[in-house]
Amino acid sequence: MAVRVGVLGATGAVGQRLIQLLDPHPDFEIAALTASDSSAGKSYRQAAKWRVEGPIPDDVAETTVSATDPDEVPDDVDLLFSSLPSSVGSEVEPAFCEAGYVMSSNSSNARMADDVPLVIPEVNADHLDLLEVQRDERGWDGAMVKNPNCSTITFVPTLAALADYGLEKVHVATLQAVSGAGYDGVSSMEIIDNAIPYIGSEEDKLETESRKLLGEFDGAELSHDGVEVAASCNRIPTIDGHLENVWVETDEDLSPEDAADAMASYPSLELRSSPDQLIHVFDEPDRPQPRLDRSLGDGMAVAAGGLRESSFGLQYNCLAHNTIRGAAGASVLNGELLLENGYL
Ligand SMILES: NC(=O)c1ccc[n+]([C@@H]2O[C@H](COP(=O)([O-])OP(=O)(O)OC[C@H]3O[C@@H](n4cnc5c(N)ncnc54)[C@H](OP(=O)(O)O)[C@@H]3O)[C@@H](O)[C@H]2O)c1
Repeated sequence: MAVRVGVLGATGAVGQRLIQLLDPHPDFEIAALTASDSSAGKSYRQAAKWRVEGPIPDDVAETTVSATDPDEVPDDVDLLFSSLPSSVGSEVEPAFCEAGYVMSSNSSNARMADDVPLVIPEVNADHLDLLEVQRDERGWDGAMVKNPNCSTITFVPTLAALADYGLEKVHVATLQAVSGAGYDGVSSMEIIDNAIPYIGSEEDKLETESRKLLGEFDGAELSHDGVEVAASCNRIPTIDGHLENVWVETDEDLSPEDAADAMASYPSLELRSSPDQLIHVFDEPDRPQPRLDRSLGDGMAVAAGGLRESSFGLQYNCLAHNTIRGAAGASVLNGELLLENGYL
């Protein structure tokens, strides 16, 4: 029988992607949708400015949107996907977990908390067991797992693939799509014919989340990886797909050919939403590109290309679909991991 799921922040950019991925999902059945008080009481069709490819699924379109409050979500919902603004998430997500709901969340609040697993299943699925520590410490029947920021998810799988060479220092410069800021994030007057070399708090997220993801969990505590990461983040006028330029210094010699092999052979998983191949490596120096490559693996793959030597070690470009692999798809994958590991 399918697990009954709810979506918090269902009307937003990530919420709509969640609906798109969850509606046909064989293991999940959408049973609750929430948003802000201004959407509560409206049908989903009325409340959401639907902006993703294809129509709103029929059974979702007429569902009434609720306020984002544990009392408004049916008790028989077993799993919540949260795509709330972090200011809202920091207040309401713990209340849902305290009320007994298990949650897979996108929001940036609590990602760096010591007892909150931050998970990319192909990279650090073992960190999920931090949920036992979380439940002990917080006394929750529910639980909260987070996926990282969309720009972090784009480059961390490539770093994980190179980890055997001993990661020392990483520099990353991002070219991020406008959908990463949500519907009300960047006005057209700001971004058309322009690039904005600042995204609030984004650099810190790449630098800290990557070390947590690559860290070791010993069953009780998580130690963060020692790799030094420096990030520079830019918003550009693409709709979807974050492109990143990366420089990696390693302990051991690492040729572009060995790096390409390590990335191309880095294993995917057998979860429902896992791509067959996690990292696609292009030989062409002008790939990956957002418009051409963001939909690889139904938007769940990472693309890399332009691998070459530089005076700062290995240099390459990578790309992922920010609202699928970087957000909604990442949450769904974590939901599948929770299911596989008996948390639902
Ligand atoms: N976009 C991305 O690529 C991306 C990637 C990774 C992570 N994230 C994270 O995912 C979260 C959602 O991002 P988004 O881009 O989808 O934002 P968004 O388009 O602005 O959507 C926000 C959602 O939250 C709801 N909401 C706003 N204020 C609320 C309140 N006070 N109480 C309850 N619900 C409220 C909105 O409902 P109404 O429609 O009723 O206002 C809407 O459903 C953020 O934490 C963001 O940092 C986004």
